[in-house]
Amino acid sequence: MAPAKNNAESLLVRARRAASHAHCPYSNFHVGAAVRCEDGSVIDGCNVENTSYGLSICAERVALFTAISQGKQPIEMAVSCIDAQSDAPPESRMPCGACRQVMQELLPANAAIQIDGVGTRHLQQLLPEGFELNPEGRTAPPDQI
Ligand code: THU
Repeated sequence: MAPAKNNAESLLVRARRAASHAHCPYSNFHVGAAVRCEDGSVIDGCNVENTSYGLSICAERVALFTAISQGKQPIEMAVSCIDAQSDAPPESRMPCGACRQVMQELLPANAAIQIDGVGTRHLQQLLPEGFELNPEGRTAPPDQI
């Protein structure tokens, strides 16, 4: 098997494992996400809910924010909703709109997003014509900060 495919599969495995850590007593819907970073490391995250529902956060944002807070540069991502039934429609496995907006900010424009049970999508497919305040200066490299 080609190394790239192995890489892709291991990212999905990490997302599935992260989903098992979800704190989701309100929805009982376990979601995991994993991001591969430019240095080759993988950072994962799960959804974390709160009794004050609006404070809950999705798995994708936990993974992306964790990577950024560790000084890493995310390049691709995998997402797994392990509670989605095998015959569930693909919509129940897709990243929400808020997470797509965050992906646009923190992943490269051509980033691949693996969605468990659905397939791989590129960021531009998930969020066509997304909002950007400053499209020219998306992310300033560290030496410009
Ligand atoms: N959820 C995610 O973690 N990611 C998404 O993209 C969609 C929804 C979580 C949020 C909430 O904890 C649960 O799934 C049900 O909506």
